[in-house]
Amino acid sequence: MKIATMLVLLGLAAQAGAQTQDGKTVFAKNCAACHMPSGAGIPGAFPALKSSPFVQGDATTLIGTVLKGRAGMPTFAASLDDEKLAQVITYIRQSWGNKASAVSLQQVQAVRSGSGAGAVSKQDAPTNIH
Ligand code: HEC
Repeated sequence: MKIATMLVLLGLAAQAGAQTQDGKTVFAKNCAACHMPSGAGIPGAFPALKSSPFVQGDATTLIGTVLKGRAGMPTFAASLDDEKLAQVITYIRQSWGNKASAVSLQQVQAVRSGSGAGAVSKQDAPTNIH
């Protein structure tokens, strides 16, 4: 293999590693208190994200849920920017044995701006933002 090719591959690997690391940090700060660092949640209170078909399912629906919040879960539309949302959603889709595609910045932007299905509209947004 040519050295230049190897360097490119190494660079990509380092980038992917950094992305996962950032997602882990965002998760630890914003999600782990309820969903637990292990992703197992607390039965009866906070759903498990580990082995969850929902988390590994349709990305647009998942992005919408984390943006808007739902029932006992706060909205993250104001506290996390699109890049952090993409990082943390990719992290939960690819951790604890979960195996789903990464979520890109563009996918989050599309859901936030309303051009994707499951988009966040103003009327929809929960009012109990904290
Ligand atoms: C204050 C506690 C709390 C925090 C913090 C929290 N969640 Fe949740 N989360 C919940 C609760 C409660 C539910 C279940 C809501 C319901 O009953 O529909 C939930 C549901 C979910 C679901 C849907 C699970 C399913 O199977 O339907 C996802 C995905 C999720 N949370 C991801 C996250 C992510 C990512 C973060 C951090 C950015 C986060 N949550 C932070 C409490 C929390």
